Amino acid sequence: MSALLRAEQLTKAFGSTQAVAGISFDIAPGRCTALLGPNGAGKTTTIRMLAGLLQPTGGKLSYAGVKPGQSPNSLLGYLPQAPSFYGWMTGREYAVYAARLCGLSAAEARSQADALLERVGLSAAANRAISGYSGGMKQRLGLAQALVHRPKLLILDEPVSALDPLGRHEVLMLLRELKQETTVLFSTHVLHDAEQLCDDVLIIRNGEMALQGSIEEIKNNHRMSVITLHIEGDDHSKQWCVSYQGGAYVKELRRIEKGIELVVTDMELARRELLGQLAEDGIRVAKLEFGHSTLEDLFMKVVSG
Ligand SMILES: Nc1ncnc2c1ncn2[C@@H]1O[C@H](COP(=O)(O)OP(=O)(O)OP(=O)(O)O)[C@@H](O)[C@H]1O
Ligand SMILES: [Mg+2]
Repeated sequence: MSALLRAEQLTKAFGSTQAVAGISFDIAPGRCTALLGPNGAGKTTTIRMLAGLLQPTGGKLSYAGVKPGQSPNSLLGYLPQAPSFYGWMTGREYAVYAARLCGLSAAEARSQADALLERVGLSAAANRAISGYSGGMKQRLGLAQALVHRPKLLILDEPVSALDPLGRHEVLMLLRELKQETTVLFSTHVLHDAEQLCDDVLIIRNGEMALQGSIEEIKNNHRMSVITLHIEGDDHSKQWCVSYQGGAYVKELRRIEKGIELVVTDMELARRELLGQLAEDGIRVAKLEFGHSTLEDLFMKVVSG
């Protein structure tokens, strides 16, 4: 198996709720993958199954180099959506404790804890109680904990969602560095975070896979030509927008607040015909834009419908 992790028809039902409804994907080594989806899509449920914390009700999970029935734990580092810490512990005490739990000797645990705190930028705060840490610092401490046994795959559930802009920035920067060293899978409901960091995306909705692939591939395959027309707002132009039917080149027509938006199959033809028609009909144009759909447009379309 060339993938580090393979999920086949992975399913989890809670009573009659199908939280994850048969999703299949590969996590390739050395890549950074975002599990993307709106609230309730099934991200946490998926991640908890991958991390071995929740038993799937169907499907199969395979990990490279791990025999069926064996635990994949040594391969995986995991940071939950809402990690909790003992606030009275210092960052260093917590990191040593996590390292000891992984079976390191007291001396090894101390040196590994110091190296990791340095790695996540917490050396200066290592002797302070965790209760005084900011959200970003706690999340970075959680990452240190997840890295303690040098996992091949780091799995993070919404590592930045609960953070303010500064905290988000800190943790995203750290993840950018970590993805050079290890394979990363993280969940988010924010497309921008995925776009900033990831090579691949898995977009889920209602427990089903809505779209998957590399960001580049998805951008290229789903890029559409879009024309946005805003009018001045006089009655004649408004009426024109309401009755406009488009030509053969129009694939989708949306009436927007200030005018219309067209997804077109042939931009050059559309440009010629639309400009001609606007001039002929005496429409007062406020803005006319010939552009492309963004990943955000696609994401909104995929998750909403
Ligand atoms: N322990 C549980 N018992 C019953 N239903 C559950 C349980 N855990 C999750 N669900 C349901 O499964 C669905 C998916 O939930 P999940 O937490 O995986 O979504 P999510 O994508 O992580 O959402 P969020 O973005 O809010 O974290 C939801 O409908 C949720 O109500
Ligand atoms: Mg969740």
